[in-house]
Amino acid sequence: MRHDHIITAKQLSREDIEAVLDRAAEFDADPGAALDRHPGKLLALAFYEPSTRTKMSFETAIKRLGGDVIDMGPVEYSSVKKGESLADTVRVIEGYADAIALRHPMEGSATMASQFVDVPLLNAGDGAGQHPTQTLLDLYTIREQAGLDDITIGIMGDLKYGRTVHSLAHALTNFDTRQHFISPESLKLPRNVRYDLHEEGAQVREHDSLDEILPELDVLYVTRIQRERFPDENEYQKVAGQFTIDVETLESADDDLTIMHPLPRVDEIDPAIDDLDNATYFEQAHNGVPVRMAILDMLL
Ligand code: CP
Repeated sequence: MRHDHIITAKQLSREDIEAVLDRAAEFDADPGAALDRHPGKLLALAFYEPSTRTKMSFETAIKRLGGDVIDMGPVEYSSVKKGESLADTVRVIEGYADAIALRHPMEGSATMASQFVDVPLLNAGDGAGQHPTQTLLDLYTIREQAGLDDITIGIMGDLKYGRTVHSLAHALTNFDTRQHFISPESLKLPRNVRYDLHEEGAQVREHDSLDEILPELDVLYVTRIQRERFPDENEYQKVAGQFTIDVETLESADDDLTIMHPLPRVDEIDPAIDDLDNATYFEQAHNGVPVRMAILDMLL
């Protein structure tokens, strides 16, 4: 993989993706065996938005490679509160670390920040834009569960604001996949994402109900309605609690359906589903460690 920064899933070729997933599989088989890979390397965590999985799995990954983290900490205790710009902040941090993982509420922030640093910058989520390292762990999970070619995947929920959806949809165009998008009218895929998918020749269909497509799916990727991104709480309330699944919903699904979710969930997946073999979302979250180990290993 020859990239300075990981900003968007659009920059990743099939070859890049397979290289990361293959390396991740090696780390997954024996995570403790990589401690001598990058001793002394420091990953800076600059998270301007809350995170559990992305932040902690990046920290675990660099430590499992023999390195360590430095953490900007909560924004309210950083000099961001004094008015420091993102450009200045990342320029300062690159003097302290060998790579930067950045999460920021503004779409396009990772692209902008990457123009100010020479160390690898990893987009750990930029607003409603992209979340490419999540996509790589999603693809790793899909490859393990269903394979990455000749599959039918349903992506359901908040397709408008869900950055994991935008990244995953782009990345899947590298493979022989049929993509079905299921959402309320107000949360359909943004026009620019639909345009890109069309340009990439993706097989895409949109639905307003899961029922009509569920029996055809190999993978169902459920997402949270991103309440924090709605400009108007009333608009959120109109769609809250819709597009959820429970055991009854799954009656018409294939027995081998793989159910995924980037997490955190609110009410999209009934906890009774957690006990089914189909539920893969906690394993998906665990896959963040070997996949982020592979990404860091290849960039550092
Ligand atoms: N999936 C994901 O990005 O989770 P966090 O927000 O907890 O990092």
